[in-house]
Amino acid sequence: MKRAAVLCGIGAWVPPGVVTNEALSAVMDTTDEWIRTRTGIRERRVVEPGTATSDLAVVAGRRALDSAGVKSADLVILATTTPDHPCPATAPDVAARLGMTGVPAWDVAAVCSGFLYGLATANAFLTGGTAERVLLIGADAFSTILAPNDRSTRPIFGDGAGAVVLRAGESDEPGALGDIVLGSDGSLRDLITIPAGGSRTPLSGPDDPDGYFAMQGKPVFRHAVTRMTAAAQEARRRAGWSAEEVDCLVAHQANYRILQAVAAKLDVPMTRCAVNLDRVGNTAAASIPLALADAAADGQLKTGHRALLTAFGGGVTWGAATLTWPDIPVEGS
Ligand code: UT7
Repeated sequence: MKRAAVLCGIGAWVPPGVVTNEALSAVMDTTDEWIRTRTGIRERRVVEPGTATSDLAVVAGRRALDSAGVKSADLVILATTTPDHPCPATAPDVAARLGMTGVPAWDVAAVCSGFLYGLATANAFLTGGTAERVLLIGADAFSTILAPNDRSTRPIFGDGAGAVVLRAGESDEPGALGDIVLGSDGSLRDLITIPAGGSRTPLSGPDDPDGYFAMQGKPVFRHAVTRMTAAAQEARRRAGWSAEEVDCLVAHQANYRILQAVAAKLDVPMTRCAVNLDRVGNTAAASIPLALADAAADGQLKTGHRALLTAFGGGVTWGAATLTWPDIPVEGS
């Protein structure tokens, strides 16, 4: 049997602060009806001032370690768009706070595809034999990079963290990952961006509007559908699964209409799609593990089920993966 990365623990965490569509309509030019019909989102969770990405990541990471019944890992990978600081990476702090001082730890930056990029990284270490156990966390406090009254971004994004523990195992075990498909197209970098504040363009001052996150929704929508579908088809092909054999499609929770389009192109009915964006919005790097945890906690994703994962994000970047669901304790978000 082939050596494989096996998912053996999962943890999810969203901050307690709920922001409903009604609350947003009270402070910006939008409506519950527009947000619901254009995105499928009813509410999202938002951190209090002073709560950082690492605070979310530590809770999700601890829950994943508990779910796996272990105290530590050989390395810690944090996928995030919103590190606590521009420098250093946030993963070492998260590892230390989880009692893993001395363990290699680093951030992965692929925006909403970050979890799948992290999964591929973890997979390479585990199948290559240089690690036996990896803690992979996807966490974003996305609300901290949005312009306060921007109706094109505020209604869409939410904060949260999801984490998995992966161990070295064999390809026929429940929890085993199949091939992971990744891609990028940097010529489309401006579609999803924080224009200023990096080495290319410094912030012109504390009120520089280019210091906030910006997204060109329409083209992003189109590329997200095309790339997620193609990547998922390729991952499914490599796993040797037919459309009927996909028990659960876990696509990046960007927009309900995107989920519908991707599911239709993949011939997977919506009843077999994980959907939690109505409650948490688009949580960027946390989206896939949060959706996995919620689908498993709700009983939609059961032991032995074949799950097809796919995501699209800034860069632009995309990816897809397959796995069979293991028998592990799960608490939803
Ligand atoms: O996480 C990475 C991947 N992200 C995504 O995949 C997101 C992809 N994009 C989307 O989900 C959608 O493009 C959005 C939800 C961002 C926007 O939906 P849309 O259907 O593409 O709307 P639009 O931007 O074309 O705007 C349609 C109309 C415009 O008005 P006019 O020009 O037709 O008069 C907007 O000004 O809706 C208006 N609008 C709003 N109205 C009320 C835009 N945002 C809002 C709003 N409330 N929040």
